[in-house]
Amino acid sequence: MDEILSEMNEGVLRLTLNRPEKKNALTRAMYSELTAALDRASADDAVRCVVLAAAGGDFCAGNDIADFAQGAEAFASPDVDIESLPVFRFLKALTFFPKPLICAVQGQAVGVGVTLLLHCDLVVVADDVRLSLPFLKLGLIPEAGSTLLLPRRIGHVRAFGWMALGERIGATEAHQLGLVNRVVGTADLSEAALGMAATLAALSPSSLRHTKGLMREPEALWAVIQDEGRIFRQQLLSPEARAAFAAFLAR
Ligand code: COA
Repeated sequence: MDEILSEMNEGVLRLTLNRPEKKNALTRAMYSELTAALDRASADDAVRCVVLAAAGGDFCAGNDIADFAQGAEAFASPDVDIESLPVFRFLKALTFFPKPLICAVQGQAVGVGVTLLLHCDLVVVADDVRLSLPFLKLGLIPEAGSTLLLPRRIGHVRAFGWMALGERIGATEAHQLGLVNRVVGTADLSEAALGMAATLAALSPSSLRHTKGLMREPEALWAVIQDEGRIFRQQLLSPEARAAFAAFLAR
């Protein structure tokens, strides 16, 4: 089964995470497919806007933990260039993506399933959404530029509390914190995201590209993602991380 679905309609490219039986946990293969899709969308003038959505009742359970456990040694090796790793290639494509990116989120969003939202230009969530950042509980550190983006967005103490206390944030709080544009019923999620996308697709592509470019600092963000990545790779080998992965996989 194709784990990243791709559908183009009137200038809007919809990418759908399609591994619902594993809560859309992201594997190396899925990161690579997403990267290729974003690169193609970036180069294709017909694509005006991208919507990222997910199949099933939950948006994304974060990085696949079996992938973490199996790939930790290779992933952490200093001989392996960070930019050759699928997850970092995806994060780079996301960081430098020049066109509007809209995310439609339902149910559970965990780890990178939340930190990727910080890179989106518009976010619409279903009212059942639960956003969690369990990195510290897993012996890891927050990634995807979230150590810069999240405190900037919601303030240090709220960001630290969310990351360190293992809180789950619901739709109302996410809206109050300025993390999302709209909260809708689950049945209306797709229509709401595609409606926003249609509005953007009708705007001038160059106006959108310049506006997004002026509002973001991708070079500085990418430097933070690389710094986080160097530490993250080491933390993957920590006894706490190994124990957390083993416990999850043994459930
Ligand atoms: N990696 C690999 N598999 C995962 C996964 C992940 N991150 N998250 C869920 N799955 C798998 C489960 O192992 C289970 O597989 P199985 O049916 O073969 O046993 C399936 O997806 C359904 O998950 P389950 O835990 O039964 O669903 P739930 O509704 O009870 O809980 C979550 C959903 C997302 C809260 C829970 O799965 C979870 O906490 N996942 C881990 C999240 C995480 O720590 N991610 C890493 C962040 S850095």
